[in-house]
Amino acid sequence: MQLLEFASKTVVSAKINKAILLVGGKGTRLQPLTNTVPKPMIRIAGKPVTEHQIIKARDAGITEIVLATSYLAEVFEPYFGDGSSYGVKLTYAVEESPLGTGGAIAYAADNFDLRGDESVFIFNGDVLSGHDLQAQAEVHQSMRADVTLHLTKVADARAYGCVPIDQTGRVSEFLEKMENPKANTINAGCYIFSSRAISSIPRGAVVSVERETFPTLLSSGHPIYGFEDSRYWIDMGTPQAMIKASSDLILNPTLSSATPEVTHEALFESGVTIDPSSKITGGSFIASGAQIGPRATIISSIISEKVVIEAGSTVRDSFIAPGSRVKSGSKIENSIFGF
Ligand code: GDD
Ligand code: MG
Repeated sequence: MQLLEFASKTVVSAKINKAILLVGGKGTRLQPLTNTVPKPMIRIAGKPVTEHQIIKARDAGITEIVLATSYLAEVFEPYFGDGSSYGVKLTYAVEESPLGTGGAIAYAADNFDLRGDESVFIFNGDVLSGHDLQAQAEVHQSMRADVTLHLTKVADARAYGCVPIDQTGRVSEFLEKMENPKANTINAGCYIFSSRAISSIPRGAVVSVERETFPTLLSSGHPIYGFEDSRYWIDMGTPQAMIKASSDLILNPTLSSATPEVTHEALFESGVTIDPSSKITGGSFIASGAQIGPRATIISSIISEKVVIEAGSTVRDSFIAPGSRVKSGSKIENSIFGF
């Protein structure tokens, strides 16, 4: 009896040290930005979204990560390698054709040697979040949940998975992108899955975790819990959200990982030429080789590699594509420029 009790306590406090990052989507709403760079590799505050996520996961004690790739899969490994420079073991699960979010989880989990009592973090690859991973793991373990979802609140839940919960935090329904959302608690795109829940996903098939796996698990009575945390959270599904995420992170680097090159109002890579009469503010990012001319004003924008901004131009809340030239006196606002 004593031994049994000890064994179950050990399971409850076991640390979650494995994660899957879902980075295989096409990023259709971000075209043309995603024609050559997959959404998770777009640089936010100078680093790919995936890199911010790897660092956050590592800092929370995760040691093994699988990147679940499909669209433009070949660009990830040359950049991240085996993960040793981040202090994690990184492997890749490359889907020949996209398996959907659920199929991708099942396929990527085969890279791990999972114990029956183990759980795994799953991250949507386009989300930056300041939520507490450790606290989410504690809810998962204390509730003995099969899945624990990070939930946040938004004013308009229509573009998200709407997730009503009861007073104990137990999820009653999962309603992906509904026209009349029942609640403003939404799926924030970071889950903990028990290995039992992972093995319930059919193998080798296209499966949506949101439209198939969650509803199926709920209807068969599996315990799924929500972990509410309303700290900084952003889904970079649109160009404006992506530009905002970058400037938010430069203005406040503690939202995610530390960015030591940060100054108060902007982040500059090496090899930039900045005229002293220009004004660069609002968390702008200026990539290597960019030239900012006299009296130019750059506010909350991403200026890519080798861009030339000529004299007197204003760029606000915009993304300027690599190598492009903004002619003298131009005004660019809320735009993707140079494709
Ligand atoms: N490997 C792989 N294979 N990854 C995929 C696939 C696939 O077939 N399809 C999508 N993904 C990845 C995307 O790259 C992205 O990182 C993540 O899965 C979610 O896909 P999105 O296309 O960004 O979904 P969404 O933003 O419309 O909705 C999702 O995220 C919301 C929160 O940001 C859902 O999970 C919603 O329920 C949620 O509220
Ligand atoms: Mg998304």
